[in-house]
Amino acid sequence: MREFVHEALPMRVTFGPGRAAAVAAEVEHLGLSRVLVLCTPGQEAVARRVADGLGARCAGVFPGAVMHVPAEVADDACRRAAGLGADGCVAVGGGSTVGLGKAIALRHGLGVVAVPTTYAGSEMTPIWGLTEDGVKRTGRDPAVLPRSVVYDPELTTSLPVGLSVVSGMNAVAHAAEALYAPDATPVTDLMAVEGARSIVAALPRIAANPADLDARADALRGAWLCGAVLGATTMSLHHKLCHVLGGTFGLPHAETHTVVLPHVLAFNLPAAPRAAAGLHQAVGAADVPRALHELGQRLGAPRSLRQLGMPASGIDEAVRQVLAAPYANPRGVTAESVASLLEAAHAGRPPAPDVTGSL
Ligand SMILES: NC(=O)c1ccc[n+]([C@@H]2O[C@H](COP(=O)([O-])OP(=O)(O)OC[C@H]3O[C@@H](n4cnc5c(N)ncnc54)[C@H](O)[C@@H]3O)[C@@H](O)[C@H]2O)c1
Repeated sequence: MREFVHEALPMRVTFGPGRAAAVAAEVEHLGLSRVLVLCTPGQEAVARRVADGLGARCAGVFPGAVMHVPAEVADDACRRAAGLGADGCVAVGGGSTVGLGKAIALRHGLGVVAVPTTYAGSEMTPIWGLTEDGVKRTGRDPAVLPRSVVYDPELTTSLPVGLSVVSGMNAVAHAAEALYAPDATPVTDLMAVEGARSIVAALPRIAANPADLDARADALRGAWLCGAVLGATTMSLHHKLCHVLGGTFGLPHAETHTVVLPHVLAFNLPAAPRAAAGLHQAVGAADVPRALHELGQRLGAPRSLRQLGMPASGIDEAVRQVLAAPYANPRGVTAESVASLLEAAHAGRPPAPDVTGSL
């Protein structure tokens, strides 16, 4: 019999096309009166529309969010928030923008309303990240969990197909590792399977028609569930590898997840029968790693780490870093097995279950 402890994180979700207009009501509901709206430079127009809807409750717009939350950007945003007397933030964007909101929450305790526009899922987690002198530190703190999340599928129709596909695969990676997490529960299992199923079914429809609102809503609902299980469980080899590859070689986040996931699953699923069964159900294929690899290829995702800019000579360093600190994984990890997996991912070969390592 399976024993478990399940602790639900607080989450308030408003979901639906056009719901970005509800951000003002959410800000009011939280008792915030002067919020700083955050976005990347590329999403300033949509952030300004949200800001306009906030009327007098908007203290200003900070359009300076960048990937991996550099400390100097967080410093700038904090100074701006303090200078304007802001009592909260509204983060309109993907994981980079939500991450900036979390950094401000971490330092100043300001409440964050997240309006996600990718499928990264950061809005559902208490995990923060800050990059200083080229090194990204991460941590968990309930204070950074957004107090309210507004999902509006209309805001995601502008996400290019290429980014939609890799961002969706990033979400599937959260679900996959949640299914074999040491702290998985029957409830996180249900959320992970439905989250992955919803995204995998939506991506081909989005690729065929990026303006398909039903498909966008399915993907966003899936991203919500995948983000929630990322926040509720402990991630394993896949997330560890992607963190090392992103930090050491500057590889792009969602693209790296997309390339690496099938290889890690080919290695891990033989040792994780419950996760294998859940993913089989979600993906609708007997060979889940190969099906995910082929889905990415069919929809134009990058195939190899080489294509993403990783030098072949970096494999040894990545192996060293991955083995340097212990972390949960359903299958014992050796230098040989990680190197073999990385060589396949680097070359862009299809995932093969025959890597070495004990089950
Ligand atoms: N803390 C967590 O729980 C967590 C979870 C997932 C990701 N992350 C972090 O989030 C970052 C990656 O986030 P991401 O993959 O969402 O990418 P991102 O936020 O960096 O966005 C990628 C690009 O897409 C643009 N964009 C976003 N939404 C758009 C839209 N709807 N239309 C057009 N353009 C749009 C952005 O302006 C940006 O240029 C990484 O730093 C990663 O570590 C953190």
